[in-house]
Parts: sequence; structure tokens; C-alpha cells
Amino acid sequence: MNIPQTVRLVDVGPRDGLQNESRPIAVTDKVQLVDDLSAAGLRHIEVGSFVSPKWVPQMAGSAEVFAAIKQHPGVSYSALTPNMKGLEAALEAGVREVAVFAAASEAFSQRNINCSIAESIERFAPVLEAAQKADVKVRGYISCVLGCPYQGDVPVDQVASVARELHTMGCYEVSLGDTIGTGTPSATRALIEAVARYVPREQLAGHFHDTYGQALANIYASLLEGVSVFDSSVAGLGGCPYAKGATGNVATEDVLYLLNGMGIETGIDLDLLVDAGARISQVLGRENGSRVARAVLAAR
Ligand code: HMG
Ligand code: MG
Repeated sequence: MNIPQTVRLVDVGPRDGLQNESRPIAVTDKVQLVDDLSAAGLRHIEVGSFVSPKWVPQMAGSAEVFAAIKQHPGVSYSALTPNMKGLEAALEAGVREVAVFAAASEAFSQRNINCSIAESIERFAPVLEAAQKADVKVRGYISCVLGCPYQGDVPVDQVASVARELHTMGCYEVSLGDTIGTGTPSATRALIEAVARYVPREQLAGHFHDTYGQALANIYASLLEGVSVFDSSVAGLGGCPYAKGATGNVATEDVLYLLNGMGIETGIDLDLLVDAGARISQVLGRENGSRVARAVLAAR
């Protein structure tokens, strides 16, 4: 297996990062974050989600954020849409790429989107159909691919079967979410091998939360398996409201440092990215969750 020479990083910080903040964040601060990320060279930014504001209040202003960001050609600005209501709101806001999100564990599916895995796939079918009609790309997420906070172990065959469904129904990419960060490199490689029986590796992405400090090792393992798209959050923002104790995604700065060291192209400028992470960390009054950013800032 050849290690990819270029990698696409999807910064999910404005969505996965901020969705977990309990304090209200001003639309202008969210917009600044997205604009800082595109200025740093990110070519795919997950801006927000069109979900129930009762479930995730922080994402309620996503349409306003979409209206105010500077959209650059060649950059995909995407949003989560769990059902038709979400898709309609996203289309109304001019969104050109959306994502549906399923889980590999029944218990997490119920807690996160209030339905079974099979029901979620049924709900996604009209979303994909309508999105395709509107020429809007659809990405598919699977949560709990390497462990579930409610059920524990999750068999790889269960993940592979959900991945196959999402791919067959038209998701152009399937992002494998280690929601609680319990995965390790050997489990990651076994997972990719199992899923790749149904979904080509070029259409897989890795989404690693760094709760147990394994995310960079898992990304390296995924690169060895030929995966070339990774989700990350600037400054390591975030967590998941339906996975107690789950910390943020792996920090984009840390992934970029790893990829730069391996000579893998991303088109992202590390210094500008560090600036973006420093600014949002200050807004949130949080310590910067990226070790690379902390080192770069200390050396300035
Ligand atoms: P439900 O209660 O079963 O939905 O929620 P419902 O269809 O019965 O509707 C109930 C109410 O919600 C109604 O309002 C609907 O209008 C409203 P009411 O009549 O009571 O006033 N509603 C909506 N409002 C706005 N936008 C919508 C929408 N749909 C219904 N799209 C639902 C089902 C999926 C909506 C709910 O469970 C929900 O919003 N869940 C949010 C889940 C979420 O955002 N989780 C975090 C993102 S996923 C994640 O972080 C994992 C990931 O990062 C990968 C990983 O790390 O694993 C992607
Ligand atoms: Mg996540």
C-alpha cells in the first residue's frame, strides 16, 4: 500500500468543536473562525449543522454563519443535515455540501439522533435524493467505529455494513468516527481493511477524537492503509454532546505537523493555522488544545 502524497484535511472545528460549548458564541466569532481557516489554506471546512436547536443549541445560528462567511472558490463549506428538515434549511442557506450521520452502534444512534440505525438510513434516503437533485454533495459519517460509550466493543462487520449502505445510497465519502477516541493503530488498520471490502479507500476518511491520545497514531496507521482524508479541529476544539467525557478532535495543527514531516502535501500554512487556533482559543477562554500550536506560540 502506497502512502498518499497529498491529504485533504477537513476542519470540523466550527461544527464538531463548537457544538459542545455550553456558553453562547457570537455569530461573528464563528464567522471569523471559518474565515481564518480558509485563509490558512483549508479546502474543506465543516461550518455548522441544521439539527434540532433543542438537541444542540450552539448550532442554532448556522444559517447566519453561512450567510456571513467569505466563500472562496475551491473551498467546500459543509453542514450536517440529519433529516429532510435539516436539508431544506441547508439548501435555503445556500449550502453546497451536506453530511448525514449514522452510527455503528444502536445505543449511540438512539441517543444521538433518536432512532435506530435502520430508521436513520431510511431517513437519509430522501435527503440524498433531494441533495443530488440540487447538485449538492453528500458525505456520510459513522460514529462509534472503534467503540461505543454505551455498548463498548463494536464489531468491524457492523461498521462495514453501515459504510456499505451509506456508500451505496450515494455518499461520495464515508468518514469513520472514533467518537470516544478509544481506538488504537492495530484496531484502526483492521477496521479500514474490513470497510475497504465495500468502500474504496479513496472514498474513506478518518475522524479521530483524541480522548485517549491515540489520534495521531491512528492517522499514521490510516495513511499506511492508503486513507488520504482526515477530519480534525483547529486547536483541538470540541467533543460530542452525546458521548460523555469525549474530548475534541485531534488538533489540525498537530496533524499538519505530522504530514509536513512526512512530505505530504495539504496546501495549508502552519503559521496561519496556529493564528486561527490561538484566536478562537482566546475567544473561548480555553487553553489551546494543540501541542504543536503551543510549541510554535512559545517559540515566537
Ligand atoms: P426528534 O426529536 O426525533 O425529531 O429528533 P422529530 O422529527 O420528532 O422532531 C422533533 C422536533 O425537532 C420538532 O420541533 C421538529 O421540528 C424539530 P417541535 O415541533 O418539537 O418544535 N426538528 C428540527 N429542527 C431543526 N432542524 C432539524 C430538525 N429536525 C427536527 N433538522 C433529530 C431527531 C435528528 C432532529 C435530533 O435528534 C437532533 O437534532 N439530533 C442532533 C444530533 C447532533 O447534532 N449530534 C451531534 C453531531 S453528530 C457528531 O458529533 C458525531 C460526528 O462528529 C462523528 C463522530 O465523532 O462520531 C459527526
Ligand atoms: Mg466527531
